This record gives sequence, C-alpha cells and structure tokens, in this order.
Amino acid sequence: MAMDLERIRADTPGTKRRTYLHNAGAALMPRTVVNAIKDHIDLEAEIGGYAAARQERKRCEAVYSSVARLLNASSEEIALVENATVAWQMAFYSLQFMPGDRILTAEAEYAANYVAFLQMAKRTGAEIDVVPSNHTGELDSGALARMIDKRVKLIAVTWVPTNGGLTNPAAEIGRIAKAHGIPFLLDACQAVGQMTVDVEALHCDMLSATGRKFLRGPRGTGFLYVRKNLLERLEPPVIDHYAAPWVARDRYELRPDFENWENNYAGRLGLGAAIDYALDIGMSEIERRCRMLAGRLRTGLGAIAGVTVLDLGRNPSAIVSFNVAGIDARDVVRKADLSGIAIGASDPDSTRIDSENRRLSDIVRASPHYYNTAEEVDRLVELCTMLKSRG
Ligand SMILES: Cc1ncc(COP(=O)(O)O)c(C=O)c1O
Repeated sequence: MAMDLERIRADTPGTKRRTYLHNAGAALMPRTVVNAIKDHIDLEAEIGGYAAARQERKRCEAVYSSVARLLNASSEEIALVENATVAWQMAFYSLQFMPGDRILTAEAEYAANYVAFLQMAKRTGAEIDVVPSNHTGELDSGALARMIDKRVKLIAVTWVPTNGGLTNPAAEIGRIAKAHGIPFLLDACQAVGQMTVDVEALHCDMLSATGRKFLRGPRGTGFLYVRKNLLERLEPPVIDHYAAPWVARDRYELRPDFENWENNYAGRLGLGAAIDYALDIGMSEIERRCRMLAGRLRTGLGAIAGVTVLDLGRNPSAIVSFNVAGIDARDVVRKADLSGIAIGASDPDSTRIDSENRRLSDIVRASPHYYNTAEEVDRLVELCTMLKSRG
C-alpha cells in the first residue's frame, strides 16, 4: 500500500519547522509517541508512579510484543533497557572469555563496542581480530570464513555503522556464525526503523538497538534480543533482585533477565507506540523510501564539484556521509542549521579503524527518513552547491 505521506507529515509537527535530515542522530517522534509518553506522565502525576504502572500493566507488557513483532522474535527474548549501548553491553559482558579466545569484528565497528573489546582483552587475555573489508567496503565474508578457528568465541559486528553509509552483510555473517556454532552479536542500532529486521533471517543470537534513531522513539530507550537457547545459558554481568530474585540468604535464582527493577514506563510506552507506528506503515515500504531518498541525496551531492560522498558498500543505508572541500564538517552543519536544515557530523573516533584506514577527519552526516520529501533532500543539495559556489 502506498505511504500516506501527507498524514505522516501531519503526524510529525517537527516537519513544519525544519528540514529534518538528522534521523541517525535522533529522529522526530510522531504525535502518537509523544502522546503515549505525556499521557503516562500525566497519569503518574495524578495517581503516582506505582499505581500508574499497575493500571497500564497490559500496555506496558504489550511493548515486548511490539519489539518481538518488529524483530520476528518472541516476547521472552526481549529486554527493554535504556539505550543500545546498555543492551549491547549486557549481552557482551555476559559472555565468558579465556586467554587466547578470539573476538572477530568489523573495520567500521562502533567505538563503544570496540573499547569494550579492549577492556575484555585486558581483563581476560582474549584477542580482537578485525575482519578486513572487501573492495566495496563491506565486511569481507570470505575473509571472515577463513579467519574462523576453534578459538573464535564471538562474532560481533555493527550492521549499519555510525557513518559511511555502509550496510554490512549481516545475514551472510550470521550464516557463517551459525554454521560454526559461534555466537553472533549484531549491533542493529542504526538499522532498526529504517529496514526490515528479522532475527531468523539474520541468524543472529543477540541484537541491540536504540529507540531514538530511525525508530522515532523517545531518547533513553533501547532493547536487547537474546535467542532463547542462549538466554538460558547466559548470566547477566550485573544483577539485581529483579533479574535474579534473592530466594535464600546464600542464593539467588536467575530469571534470566537483562533488566533491573526500576524503569521509565512513559519512555517504554513511547517506544512501543513508535514501533507500532512503523509496523502500521510497513517496514518494507519504509526501507524502500529511505533508500530512494538517500540515493537521491547521494546522487545530488556527488554531482557537486568539491563535495565528496564518503559512503561504502553495495547497498547503502539512509545515512549519507560527505565532506565539502575547504569547509569544516561542523561548519557545514552550522550553516545548514542557519538555513533551517538539521544534519549532523561525526568524528573519526566513533569508527576509528575505518577512519584511519580512509584517513577521514570529521565528516558530515545527513540521514533522511521516510517522512522526508524529495524537495527536502534537494534543499540540502542546493545548500551544498551554494556553499561551494561561494568558494
Ligand atoms: C552503530 C551504533 N551502535 C550503537 C550506538 C549507541 O546507541 P545509544 O546511544 O542508544 O547507546 C550508536 C550511537 O550512535 C551507533 O551509531
């Protein structure tokens, strides 16, 4: 069914104010998300937080089903946490490593994940091996297969890296991991909400994501998927009496769960509303439009002399990275802001290996979403054309 763009934009008050192309930072929430959050806050103010959670118990529980539907998982495999980093950390730090164990990862791995690898290596003597990218810039799955041996205890990869437009071949990586019985932890933080995510098709065992990016949910929300058979074997790295009830003076029992007791229920309801909103539109339709708009932006920017599009891969995502020769990335963002266009910049530390390999400094990051129009995308192209023509 064709997307009702007029209704979608009417649902998104922020689209009236700005040309918002910063969805990989934090997307604009639709009204239904904002209302879900506000309504719950109002209820908490009226009857108190505990009573409000009790009254809305069914709706709070339905959030797990919404995440499960989004991922093609089951509700028991979902933990709701405060962001993608916490989700990822809960999974990663649950795993046990011994000296000489190997962690395989990608060149464009996200900084938060990589520093956790470094810490784990320091603590346990595990080794980090970076799978090289192929000529397209994607993780080279042939190289990955050749790097596998008995010492590989984890494959952990970012699907859609912070910048660089890349979509790593997650399903192919998952197939290789599964064939060798190696746990596969997928950082899907920037994939959820812009493309179809199916944990079965991806063969991933653990997947982390955030609410505020392409899902259009509130800040401070995220979730973790852990496949049931692995869930039963993992002990969370930190527990409280919710994740592990204190059943005797000298004993706790794992539920198992990666959450703890206290939560932002308003945020959770907002996350649920955001997922339901996306699912109502349809993820394949969203994915198609995101790719179309990002493709149009890449083509437009690529045609400007002095603008370099820095994206990689055969099937780039809705994150468009570029530089404008002679103008600092942060200046481009400032100038765009003054023209009513919201975009972002990212620094080399976020994806250090990729940035060093490609000698990248700060880069501009524009990320359209399905609610944007072709005219909005063209507005950014026009601005960059003007910046270059002014010299
Ligand atoms: C690829 C990737 N993974 C994880 C994260 C962390 O997400 P959060 O800020 O929700 O913890 C980010 C944030 O930008 C990201 O780009």
